[in-house]
Amino acid sequence: MIDRGIILAGGHGTRLSPLTKVTNKQLLPLYDKPLIYYSLSVLMLAGIKRILIIVNPTEANSYRKLLGDGSRLGINITYKEQKKPEGLPQAFIIGEEFINKKGVALILGDNFFYGQGLALKLKKALKENKGSTIFLYPVENPSKYGVIELTNKNKIKKISEKPKKPISNLAITGLYFFDNKVVSYSKKLKPSKRNELEITDLIKKYKNNNSLKIERIGRGGSWLDAGTTKDLFDASQFVSIIEKRQGLKIACIEEIALRNKWIKNEAIIKSIKFYGNCDYSDYLKNLI
Ligand code: G1P
Repeated sequence: MIDRGIILAGGHGTRLSPLTKVTNKQLLPLYDKPLIYYSLSVLMLAGIKRILIIVNPTEANSYRKLLGDGSRLGINITYKEQKKPEGLPQAFIIGEEFINKKGVALILGDNFFYGQGLALKLKKALKENKGSTIFLYPVENPSKYGVIELTNKNKIKKISEKPKKPISNLAITGLYFFDNKVVSYSKKLKPSKRNELEITDLIKKYKNNNSLKIERIGRGGSWLDAGTTKDLFDASQFVSIIEKRQGLKIACIEEIALRNKWIKNEAIIKSIKFYGNCDYSDYLKNLI
């Protein structure tokens, strides 16, 4: 059973705002909390407690200040730096020592997942000890993503990275599960035309070995990315609407840790002190 996860929060040179010159986007807020909380919460919901965050060198300290070694959340967080953004599979080369025999989950630091049943699907993917599982989601603009074409029997036909003429509307989301062959496969990849190692090329290796599984995040679930200012704004509105309606927070990492019984109330009090006076702290106070 996979018990480790990587968050790739490299992504230098984003186009979000002038602030990206001094901080990177996963530290910017998506509505009421840093963007990285959302991907971290997905791994935590899956039950993953050992997490490697890959950051770019200039922001390493900010991440350490924000999340530390994870003990505040009852988890173990370590950090590695990605010197240059040379593609997602680089995460497995940088993280080679972190990845054990059981394999690893990877989530992109700017991806947002929400919906009932998601945690169960994740737990199922963790149990696979061979091959890879990827998550698909229908989108209106597939050309922006890795895209997969399925046969009418739900078999995988073709995988393409950002096709100009999309072969289907099924995007490959930024959440992946791989067995430990991922390290050697990644090392063998060649850079693409955009001079990056492509995650879709890595996924194709699993497809060619008949060891690629697909899971769909159905129409009732949500997958958003926060790659552009508009995306970040839209995702913020989405979170704001749901949180206001339910009075519950999405991706409150302390709440997940508490409900998973990884921490006790004292740890929540520590977090409240750490965050100081803000709406997020008020929410934490209500939890205990
Ligand atoms: C990357 C992957 C792409 C995937 C997307 C998900 O795209 O290359 O296959 O669909 O993440 O967010 P990029 O972030 O490089 O545009």
